Amino acid sequence: MGSPLCEFKSPSEAKHTRAATADAPFPRSQRLYWTAGLNGMEALLRAVLALLFPIVTLSCLIRAQAPEFMSLASARPVLQAMRGSLPPELKTAGAVDAAAWDAWVRAKDRAIRSRVAKGEELTLANLLRLGITYTGERRITFDLLSRYGGDPVVNSAVERRTGDLIRALAAPRAPEGMLQMRAFLKENGYSLNTPEAQKRTRAYLLGVLVRQRDGVAREREKAKSSTSQLFKDRGLSTDSDLYTGYALDLHLTNLARSGVLRPGSVHRVAIIGPGLDFVNKKSGYDFYPPQTIQPYAVIDSLARLGLADAASIEVCTYDISPRVNQHIERARESAARGDPYTIQVLWNRSAGGSARYLSDFMEYWRRFGEQIGKPADAIAVPEAARIDLMTRAVRIRPAVAARISAVDMNVIFQAQSRPPEKRFDLVIGTNIFLYYDDLQQALARVNLAAMIKPGGLLVSNTILSVAGPSKLEDSVRTDIPLQPGLTDYVYSYLRRP
Ligand SMILES: C[S@@+](CC[C@H](N)C(=O)[O-])C[C@H]1O[C@@H](n2cnc3c(N)ncnc32)[C@H](O)[C@@H]1O
Repeated sequence: MGSPLCEFKSPSEAKHTRAATADAPFPRSQRLYWTAGLNGMEALLRAVLALLFPIVTLSCLIRAQAPEFMSLASARPVLQAMRGSLPPELKTAGAVDAAAWDAWVRAKDRAIRSRVAKGEELTLANLLRLGITYTGERRITFDLLSRYGGDPVVNSAVERRTGDLIRALAAPRAPEGMLQMRAFLKENGYSLNTPEAQKRTRAYLLGVLVRQRDGVAREREKAKSSTSQLFKDRGLSTDSDLYTGYALDLHLTNLARSGVLRPGSVHRVAIIGPGLDFVNKKSGYDFYPPQTIQPYAVIDSLARLGLADAASIEVCTYDISPRVNQHIERARESAARGDPYTIQVLWNRSAGGSARYLSDFMEYWRRFGEQIGKPADAIAVPEAARIDLMTRAVRIRPAVAARISAVDMNVIFQAQSRPPEKRFDLVIGTNIFLYYDDLQQALARVNLAAMIKPGGLLVSNTILSVAGPSKLEDSVRTDIPLQPGLTDYVYSYLRRP
């Protein structure tokens, strides 16, 4: 994570992106899981949940304020500490005034939010390179992608994939992930309605692929010196996978063993950038609908370690991707009606890594969700992926799923004011800070410090190298040896009083 792996999240690589749009219904398979097996007890449970629902909503969204842009007063210590490296707009002869600061923050917030669409574009590129549901063509790994343009074999595989994808995108009955990509194309002025429109869409898709090829090449060069801001010029992807859950599980175990987190001490958790799991950039798949893993993985680990009670924990997610936020809110609303949330749990047997790492990861995969749900039927793995992938599925109890709610907040420039007793014991932000530069990371630290209670922790797999004057200080680090010469890290930052 803080290692060269952060580009790819994990050696195993299973992935995805994209949240639900309002007009994209859950696919048939997921609807089936959600409605199966109602009986008297479940009906009673639904009624109880329906009563609890407004209470849960209150705890995340109403008792706390809506996020606000950070004030000049809270940013000033960072601006002073970093005055030598501030952007020109903030490097004035005199002090920056509140109006100029406010205008700057709002403009930069818009700029960051515009990177979400660029991230969606990357998911489209991943679907084109790696999707297996719509084509029998070979998958275009990053290594093959680097040869695109100069290698006729790769070029024709890409050509055929593009034709197959366009046909699948245009099909009247498409699965959820495909519908979301279609919606994204439409939002950006690309249509599939006529041969002429398809030709234009095809050129766009190939252009997206070229941009991804060039971006990956640049990042590989950059990764030779540092990975802590590796993606600062890239679109904001919503990629997520099980590996991050595994890494956090090890870190939380470390925090529990070392006494930094005490039994039963975690009541409120924030997940910054929970992401969506769908056709990830390195070797993701598109045969299951977009899903969010991290909030559930964290509750599961905390409950297993005795650090939190899954029945009463409060989890707030903060994201700027409308698709991520909509997806989580829809899951919460469904849970409030008594519907469980089903997660496909993937393990890639061909993943690299030491024998120890692989057996530990497999054990995590096997027990994932046992504290918060029960086994369900997994979506069948298509033939093309059957050699590499093992899947299981977990149906998360509605009472747990209803405890997670989503808030739109740009963690770089916004914070949510919370009364002291409602501040977080634990804030988790993985695979997010590496999209930002020093100043942005330092401002995020200030925003998050204000939301964490004294003695609480910020946990990340990105080392926040510029301390800046925030109330967060370095704490426990967990080393995750993946294979000889390759170690991943998770870091904690402790909120001082
Ligand atoms: C690469 S995904 C990581 C998902 C998950 N944390 C994981 O590690 O698997 C990054 C997530 O952070 C969100 N994000 C990026 N920048 C953000 C910001 N400034 N504020 C809030 N969320 C942000 C993205 O929309 C996305 O959901």
